[in-house]
Amino acid sequence: MRWAADVAPMAVLLLDDAGGLHYANASARRLAARLDESLDEREGLHALLALANDTDWELACAQGHSRRDIDVRPGFTLAVEPFCGMGDNAGLRFLALTDISLRSARERELQQRHDELERAYRSLAGAQEQLLQSEKMASIGQLAAGVAHEINNPIGYVHSNIGTLREYMGALFGMLETYSSALAAPDPLIYRNDVRAQREKLDIDFILGDLPQLLDESREGIERVTRIVQDLKEFSHVGRNETMRPADLLKGLESTLNIVWNDLKYKVKLEKIYGDMPPVECLPSEINQVFMNLLINAGQAIAERGTITLACGTENGEAWVSVADTGCGIPEDALGRIFDPFFTTKPIGRGTGLGLAICYRIVEKHHGHIEVQSTVGQGTTFRVVLPVTQPADARVAAV
Ligand SMILES: Nc1ncnc2c1ncn2[C@@H]1O[C@H](COP(=O)(O)OP(=O)(O)OP(=O)(O)O)[C@@H](O)[C@H]1O
Ligand SMILES: [Mg+2]
Repeated sequence: MRWAADVAPMAVLLLDDAGGLHYANASARRLAARLDESLDEREGLHALLALANDTDWELACAQGHSRRDIDVRPGFTLAVEPFCGMGDNAGLRFLALTDISLRSARERELQQRHDELERAYRSLAGAQEQLLQSEKMASIGQLAAGVAHEINNPIGYVHSNIGTLREYMGALFGMLETYSSALAAPDPLIYRNDVRAQREKLDIDFILGDLPQLLDESREGIERVTRIVQDLKEFSHVGRNETMRPADLLKGLESTLNIVWNDLKYKVKLEKIYGDMPPVECLPSEINQVFMNLLINAGQAIAERGTITLACGTENGEAWVSVADTGCGIPEDALGRIFDPFFTTKPIGRGTGLGLAICYRIVEKHHGHIEVQSTVGQGTTFRVVLPVTQPADARVAAV
């Protein structure tokens, strides 16, 4: 029995009834020497015994065994395990000590690797977020030219209307002048024909008819610019600190449509089949980005003339929005890859292949999914399906 204890790799210290040291195996004696070289063997063994404190023994007596890892000094870690006999063995106690320095060094190394991986993962996630943001900025840049044109047009005619209004004002002031000098004469009626002639010369009747129209047109132009600016603002609302909130998806779809409309209007007929739509809990600026990417793709799929059909509705407690086009369609072998980052069939400079990858990521983050149906030569339908309310933990994660 003693032989078995002496060849065992772990240190074993047997206690007597009073809690004193009754027996120590060979491993315990070697470990005592390593613990503190300045102590003699007896003192060293007692120092080993003292590593287990009262709590360790209380736990061991309650459960039969307890364990605590102690960093004795850097690079030297011991697993300290008191055992208390139970049943027939009640009253017997021993302490086992195992050198786990190597194991804990490995654990530390693993922990370090884990921390490094976690840091790398975080920075990747950050990079992905940046990519998303820069794709959004790039698409806004791409649209800016179109939007500038859209704004330029009304501004152009409001400007020209102001020029005309100025001319009209000159004529009206001239007419007023004629009236007041006639009125200042002792017998104004003498000037009746002059006034009439002047009124004809200055085209006052035409001016009076044209004025309200000019003003209406100018107001409309300015309202259009205001709307475009508002849509742009809503669309580009930076969503970094945005939290998930119930939002009107159709409003987002319409604003986004207004922004991309300039690129589509010459070749696309638009149809809308809108069903009931409850507010959907989401990050509105990100969902707008999804709509924009789908709308741009649909427009690009139509070579000359075609129809884009926007539809929405609810099904099984989920909300869906679809963008369907009568464009070129997607071949079977490409269908499985369209959501891959950088998969594009468009010429260099036209597409980076990120649009759908970003849509996928955003929709996944919203616990939804995207469905696609396509027939080459007939067209493609993308359907975005989102839960109306997000799971509770998602709200926190989205902050
Ligand atoms: N509505 C669609 N009709 C036909 N093909 C489509 C449609 N939408 C996407 N695709 C195909 O999927 C590919 C990937 O689309 P995605 O939006 O990810 O990238 P992209 O449009 O090529 O480039 P980016 O969106 O970055 O400008 C497209 O190149 C195209 O081949
Ligand atoms: Mg695209």
